[in-house]
Amino acid sequence: MVQNENMAKSKTQFTCSACGATSTKWSGRCEACGEWNSIVEEAPFGAGPSGSSLGTHKGRTIELSDLSTEDAPTPRTISGVKELDRVLGGGLVPASAILVGGDPGIGKSTLLLQAAARFARQGVKTIYVSGEEAAAQVRMRAQRLGLTQSPVMLAAETNLRDILTTLEAERPQLAIIDSIQTMWSDTVSSAPGSVSQVRAAAHELTAFAKRKGIAIILVGHVTKEGQIAGPRVVEHMVDTVLYFEGERGHQFRVLRAVKNRFGPADEIGVFEMTGRGLAEVGNPSALFLSDRGKPSAGSVVFAGIEGTRPVLVEFQALVAPSPTPQARRTVVGWDSGRLAMILAVLESRCGVPFTGLDVYLNVAGGMKVSEPAADLAVAAALVSAREDSALPADTVVFGEISLSGALRSVAQTENRLKEAQKLGFTTALAPKGGKAPAVEGINLNRVGDLASFVGEVFGANQ
Ligand code: TYD
Ligand code: MG
Repeated sequence: MVQNENMAKSKTQFTCSACGATSTKWSGRCEACGEWNSIVEEAPFGAGPSGSSLGTHKGRTIELSDLSTEDAPTPRTISGVKELDRVLGGGLVPASAILVGGDPGIGKSTLLLQAAARFARQGVKTIYVSGEEAAAQVRMRAQRLGLTQSPVMLAAETNLRDILTTLEAERPQLAIIDSIQTMWSDTVSSAPGSVSQVRAAAHELTAFAKRKGIAIILVGHVTKEGQIAGPRVVEHMVDTVLYFEGERGHQFRVLRAVKNRFGPADEIGVFEMTGRGLAEVGNPSALFLSDRGKPSAGSVVFAGIEGTRPVLVEFQALVAPSPTPQARRTVVGWDSGRLAMILAVLESRCGVPFTGLDVYLNVAGGMKVSEPAADLAVAAALVSAREDSALPADTVVFGEISLSGALRSVAQTENRLKEAQKLGFTTALAPKGGKAPAVEGINLNRVGDLASFVGEVFGANQ
């Protein structure tokens, strides 16, 4: 009786293929992530045990230990690609599962084939399974990348059972599955790419990785249409989630750790897409600032921190009278909600209104910035654009703005200043408060609130 009730309850469920949220009814838009047309019907999960106990079957007693066991530190395998090793938290951890997500065509397969080759050359037994390209196509790519001599074992296969059997027999140290959306498990009845298939395949592969001590890298495409599940659906199953980002039109790409059980999240690795694959960019600040010309109104250099590393990027703002009653706010590379907040603070605390003005904000070079420390640089770019008055070219800006218009100091001031100094900047505008590290060659100008910052730097509001 209870059994029947349970079964009736778990009849069908609807799952968002973008974020994996489940609901009991279909709707045109996912309430969890806001994506349109992404909800699909899924086979139900099996009903759990009924009643309050697990029945009469006795389980095995699990061996318990304390936290002070003296395990050796996790051995890590270094690929030799510094940008990749850093994002992984200092190399590859055995028996771990890593998800590499990104837009189609951004360069995931290229990155992983290069990584596979580097790992293999270090003596790591590596298998690369492509579910998207034929072996000949992968070989062609390897030829173009100059990797044909690397001892990577290659397979073009989508059948999960066959892949697991092969991995079991070969016992590699690293297996790369490109992509998880093409994998197909015969224990699940839905089509490859559906939420259930992707979940089942990711679950099988990660469980296998843990059991056998193999590191597994899963590639996942970020998808726009509802029928194919996105990588977010498996994020919670893996140890490390990396996203490969970048604008198609720009040559550089950022590999960003958004979750890492074995290292700092928010770490980035920067690569450049060249005719011969991805090249490491050891000094990203120089790359992001490389196209800077004369000082121009609306352009401000922000001294940011990405993970453990300082990175300088240029914010560009354009402010123009709006031809329509509804002024535009367009942002690329920064949070639009945060922009609205800074515009409101500038208007109500500093008397710098943007009503009737279109505002465009862009982070140069296709970089994405999420640090609140960029607030002050954004505000400076906006006021600079509005007043048509450029900041001196040798100045960097950083600091967080609170709703009261006060400026809050941010972490790692010294690292930011040192990076700025290294790239030839001589002045830094930053909030008061906290320690003021003295960095030789940098004149640190500390300001208490946004109104005096605007007054001091642009002479507005006076
Ligand atoms: P790819 O790795 O196939 O992307 P993904 O696996 O994320 O879908 O990369 C495809 C793009 O990279 C393609 O548009 C061409 C470009 N590319 C280069 O510019 N140089 C190269 O050496 C390679 C192999 C690819
Ligand atoms: Mg690919």
